[in-house]
Amino acid sequence: MSVPKKKYITTPIYYVNAKPHLGHTYTTMLCDTLAKYYRFAGSDVFFLTGTDEHGDKIVKAASKEGKTPQEYTDFISSLFRTTWDTLHIEYDDFIRTTEDRHKKVVRQVLQIIYEKGDIYLADYEGLYCTGCERYLTEKELNEKGECPDHLTKPELIQEKNYFFKLQKYLPKVKKHIEENPDFISPDRYRNEALGAIEELIKQGEDLSISRPKARLTWGIELPFDSSFVTYVWFDALLNYISALGYPDNELYTRFWPAHHFIAKDILKPHAIFWPAMLMAAEIPLYEKLSVHGYWLGWGDIKMSKSLGNAADPLELTNKLGEDALRYFLAREMRFGSDAKFSEEIVITRLNTELSNEIGNLFQRTLSMILKYANHLPKPQSHDIEQKLNAILQEVQTEYHKTMQKERTDLAIEQVLKVTGFLNKAIEEYKPWEMAKTNDENLLPLLTTIFRGTLVCFAYLRPFLPNTWEKLTNLISFVQKEVFPKELSAIEWDTQNMEKPKPFFPRFTNENH
Ligand code: MSP
Repeated sequence: MSVPKKKYITTPIYYVNAKPHLGHTYTTMLCDTLAKYYRFAGSDVFFLTGTDEHGDKIVKAASKEGKTPQEYTDFISSLFRTTWDTLHIEYDDFIRTTEDRHKKVVRQVLQIIYEKGDIYLADYEGLYCTGCERYLTEKELNEKGECPDHLTKPELIQEKNYFFKLQKYLPKVKKHIEENPDFISPDRYRNEALGAIEELIKQGEDLSISRPKARLTWGIELPFDSSFVTYVWFDALLNYISALGYPDNELYTRFWPAHHFIAKDILKPHAIFWPAMLMAAEIPLYEKLSVHGYWLGWGDIKMSKSLGNAADPLELTNKLGEDALRYFLAREMRFGSDAKFSEEIVITRLNTELSNEIGNLFQRTLSMILKYANHLPKPQSHDIEQKLNAILQEVQTEYHKTMQKERTDLAIEQVLKVTGFLNKAIEEYKPWEMAKTNDENLLPLLTTIFRGTLVCFAYLRPFLPNTWEKLTNLISFVQKEVFPKELSAIEWDTQNMEKPKPFFPRFTNENH
């Protein structure tokens, strides 16, 4: 299956009101895994992440810490950046909405839309949730009258504001979503977006895109009225083009439109406001919006800092290892649905698959080869090779298909089919018995299985990049294809080597 020539992958830009937790880490790691996949498969990739630094929420968080908004955003933004660096996230750029390059683009786009007549001044009254940084409708509140995501009561606010003519664009956005079934995926979020558009059309309201400076100064000043700053969402969404240097930078021409990744909490701004803004500014729409569910922490509720049930990605990495965390996140979550997180779930998943199936296969096979041959002999073909190649044919087709649908859980499952076959072959052929009778098929069997194991690691490389490094330091082999379609795509010369340490020793609550 081919990959697109160009791929522009983005994460949401995260609020800097708290340090990164596992929820943010999931989206970022997933995007990194997919960026790696597309790079290996030959696409020209640009991967963007960053931080969203304006708004009430940030001002409140800063004052709580006794810091100015600037000091505070510098600090938390750097925490995000260093967390991603520690986790070896290979982003191509990190955008901050307080940077001049971003502010410039926000003002430019506002001016374009204003001059077109799609922005006007009016009175407004509504229920504002600072957590969401947007007005909520009565319908969205829970039975206690609270925001369902933040469990706080929204504030009733009355003020003059600038409005973007959202209503004018809603039918066009709806039409685009209807005519392009892949624009928003999975389907349930496409349907949710269409439902939300209907609702907005019924309400008949436009989108407030400013805040009076009298109430909030921490924002980007409107280019046509210095007594207002820009509403955070209007500011934040534009990061996806400001980072590329819209309108005339080479990166913008080369990479726009984007493939956006978000969780369902921010579906509405991305599925509705953003396309409407792009239409108004006459910018081509993004390529695709992929929406995932929540990681549920303690109490089976959305993991979040404010609810106190968020897991720390760096602590987890120290405990489990970076690749194990990556593997877990990609394997456990079925893209689009919620997934539960607990230490027990992590340990079970990692032991049954990463340790027992994958790590053990490698360790076991290589140990036997070294025991029976004293070195790693050149690969020799065994009878099972044909069967293995046939499995590989199916596996690779499904692997690429599922990867390109963000179903990383299923892509890994494909690889597990191969490791399953290889582990079973060991049980069936019993190399230790073959050794006793000096069976000449012993080494061909083991080298074939070993070659199959390396093929599995090649397919797992976007998920286990550090393990891949370790592997290539241990054994020098040549790969004719990045994602081998046949065992013969992997070759090595005879080499002397030591028995390696296990890649994934058993995970336990205590010693990790
Ligand atoms: N700043 C806005 C986004 C602007 S994008 C133009 C924002 N920031 S956020 O810090 O709240 O990040 C929300 C995103 O973090 C989610 O969409 C998701 O990518 C990730 N997650 C945060 N908590 C999460 C879970 N519990 N589970 C899964 N993802 C989570 O919204």
